[in-house]
Amino acid sequence: MQNFDQFIGSFSFDGRLGESDIIGSIAHTKMLVKTKIINASDGKKIISGLTSVLKDIRKGWSIPKEEDIHYAIEKELIRRIGIVGGKMHTARSRNDQVATDLRIYLKQEITNIKNLVNTFQRTLVKKADENIDIIMPGFTHLQPAQPVLAAHHLLAYAQMFQRDKERLYDCYKRTDILPLGSAALAGTSFKIDRQYTAKLLDFQNISENSLDAVSDRDFAVEFVFCMALIALHLTRFCEEMILWMNPEFGYITIDDKFTSGSSIMPQKRNPDCAEVIRGKSGRIFGDLIALLTIAKSLPLAYNRDLQEDKPPVFDALDNVKMCLKVINEMTKSLKFVKERTLKSTEKGFIAATEIADYLTRNNVPFRTAHGLVKDIVLYCKKHSKALNELSIKEYNKFSPIFKKDIFNCLDLKNITNIKMSYGGTSRKSVIRQIKNIKRKLK
Ligand code: ARG
Repeated sequence: MQNFDQFIGSFSFDGRLGESDIIGSIAHTKMLVKTKIINASDGKKIISGLTSVLKDIRKGWSIPKEEDIHYAIEKELIRRIGIVGGKMHTARSRNDQVATDLRIYLKQEITNIKNLVNTFQRTLVKKADENIDIIMPGFTHLQPAQPVLAAHHLLAYAQMFQRDKERLYDCYKRTDILPLGSAALAGTSFKIDRQYTAKLLDFQNISENSLDAVSDRDFAVEFVFCMALIALHLTRFCEEMILWMNPEFGYITIDDKFTSGSSIMPQKRNPDCAEVIRGKSGRIFGDLIALLTIAKSLPLAYNRDLQEDKPPVFDALDNVKMCLKVINEMTKSLKFVKERTLKSTEKGFIAATEIADYLTRNNVPFRTAHGLVKDIVLYCKKHSKALNELSIKEYNKFSPIFKKDIFNCLDLKNITNIKMSYGGTSRKSVIRQIKNIKRKLK
């Protein structure tokens, strides 16, 4: 097969590890010089050769094709400085090298993604702040349940993404372990100084077991899981944006540039960006399953299967980054339509629980109160009335306990503002939430 080399190689998809590879090789070379495994003059040649390749790569130059990026860089180095370049690979194997490259690369990207998440959270919090006076129905089972502040709703997402960031932080700790020096699988007989390499490459720890170090991809799986969970949270948010944009809800508008028209129906604005983000979750979840499947059942130590780790890792990474950028821009343009959210609170008897609570505060056991209010709602439905359209007389038909102050319980602002429990939807509590999360987002 003519393309056999191409088939077993990874050059078509591991090129983006080039910079990490060279940075790793420079540190490795410095360590070889420090430990006198190679002499200083050879080390100097190698490092200046690697630096020149790095510069060219950064300028956008494409390195000639080889089996993989590691061979490509080594061959290029030897082309530039001669056979002394071959000394770079002393006390090392591509097995510990590729594991190192991926860790260097992901450490950087974890930080980038954390920043993107943070930016999106700030937008959410800003929107919450701006819309603190908007009250809308809260749902369970997508049925009108109880009124909540729109800000409270947005801040729920800020919390999800806060956990996503914490997970990334945690994943970073386990990515921050240097495998270099494990060589092919057994370690090396050269008297290397792994701590020194770790210091040069800014790794907190070095791996404890060479067999594990060259074959472990937990950190990559964990990373893609973090991507999948971010994608999942994005689908929830996008789903709500899509619903809220539907004229039946009409709660929000977003800038036209995040929607598109229909080729046949002139009236339409479709929420394409939100839909595409929702759809991207499919491939990102797929990336996680792919990676888990690649890593499963592999005997120790390195197996070439592991080469297939890169496409799913990069795919999940690229798509999550794109989604986070788009969702942030889209959310910046989000505006609530107050009349619509308000109108919606009139449907679905969302004050019913307040009436039950009113009775309960007046010593009626909650279960009894629940039954009573159920009857009141049925009565309202029968007579096409809202809860605040009943007279006190009508209320008293159900219970003599009702006094005129029942109508205070039906006022939207009152309903939300009495949810004073920590984490509840009262204005006070929501303002506290904003304050707390803002502190974390600094
Ligand atoms: N391209 C390989 C990978 O991505 C590098 C390691 C190759 N190691 C080997 N023993 N063939 O995993």
